[in-house]
Amino acid sequence: MSKTWVILCFVAAIFFQFLATANGWSPFCTKTKFTVHVVDGLSSNAQPLLLHCWSRDQDLGNHTLYIGGDFFFHFRQRFFPPPTRFQCDMNWGPKHLQVTVFDKDRVKDDCCKTGTCFWRAQDDGIYYSNSNSSYFKVYAWE
Ligand SMILES: *[C@@H]1O[C@H](CO)[C@@H](O)[C@H](O)[C@H]1NC(C)=O
Ligand SMILES: *[C@@H]1O[C@H](CO)[C@@H](O)[C@H](O)[C@H]1NC(C)=O
Repeated sequence: MSKTWVILCFVAAIFFQFLATANGWSPFCTKTKFTVHVVDGLSSNAQPLLLHCWSRDQDLGNHTLYIGGDFFFHFRQRFFPPPTRFQCDMNWGPKHLQVTVFDKDRVKDDCCKTGTCFWRAQDDGIYYSNSNSSYFKVYAWE
């Protein structure tokens, strides 16, 4: 191999490493496919959960969830920037929250272990789990 070729490979490797790291990829998270669930865990159907989720490239539309209702979607994490990021507007009667349900920090942190993020709306706020058990509260309703 010529020296130039070796140098080119080296530069390319560093470039891709840089790109991947900036986008939330790490050797500890090799998953590329993820699922996000948003579940209605409210105590009453008097006011259903109104949900609207989207990313930069996709609008997942408006959904009305009743007790136990589960809105979920699958996607592949982007390799090239900008990083994959999904947000949801959640409305419950007069209460409202905008939640980032998936971004590169969540991948690094937690969803990567299971490939799945679970979000659950309850009367006192929004809970999160990566396994659909042992949820913890992340946001209070505004
Ligand atoms: C979703 O609901 C919002 C608020 O009610 C409305 O402004 C928007 O047009 C709706 N979008 C679709 C795709 O129905
Ligand atoms: C999450 O757990 C609940 C309660 O055990 C169950 O009813 C539901 O089907 C589970 N959802 C998924 C996607 O596994």
